[in-house]
Amino acid sequence: MPDTAPVTVIDHPLVQHKLAILRDKNTDVRSFRDLCREISMLMAFEAMRHLPLEEVTVETPVAPARVRRLSGKKLALIAILRAGLVMVDGILTLVPAARVGHIGLYRDPQTLAPVQYYNKLPSDVAERDVFLLDPMLATGGSAVAAVSILKGLGAKAIRLLCILGAPEGIAAVHEAHPDVEIILAAQDERLNEHGYIVPGLGDAGDRIYGTR
Ligand code: PRP
Ligand code: URA
Repeated sequence: MPDTAPVTVIDHPLVQHKLAILRDKNTDVRSFRDLCREISMLMAFEAMRHLPLEEVTVETPVAPARVRRLSGKKLALIAILRAGLVMVDGILTLVPAARVGHIGLYRDPQTLAPVQYYNKLPSDVAERDVFLLDPMLATGGSAVAAVSILKGLGAKAIRLLCILGAPEGIAAVHEAHPDVEIILAAQDERLNEHGYIVPGLGDAGDRIYGTR
């Protein structure tokens, strides 16, 4: 039995405060989008604690200084379309040099199975530290499929960042990809009969883009 990577909940007061507003059904489209960006940025700040540093010397106006800067593998931010796109926007403010990839998946409303319609990824994704982004981890079908696509291209260091996760989705990712760390702003109670997260925040894509 392989070791299962951890589930990390970012229990920071700012994240939880913004998440409270995000969940509110009266939050408008513009605020919802802004909050998704802000929460994603704050989550990434914590999720990137493991990034290695190297010591270098820079000349300040006064004297040489030994300083630390990021070293090692480069980053790839991979959005599961559509809703993962706003998470990319937020996180790029922290790591503007990261490469960005897109995996187009939607859930079939009847079967809830993921349907792939698009795929454009950095050619060197196998060498990068990958953050897979989707605000919602419900049945886990979309995340499991996206991780399989990334692993098929050789990606090895994959972390899944979702704003909300249901126990069912977490179990599905653990079952299929036990090596993938899951980072959430909150773990919710369950799924309802339509595969929506309870209490959740509704349909993330529709609330971000004002569609229905
Ligand atoms: C939502 C969400 C995830 C998926 C989660 O996308 O953004 O991608 O559902 O559900 P799962 O864990 O059961 O697979 P949706 O299919 O609504 O597509 P959209 O982002 O285009 O709205
Ligand atoms: N996708 C969403 O956008 N919301 C859910 O609650 C479940 C899947």
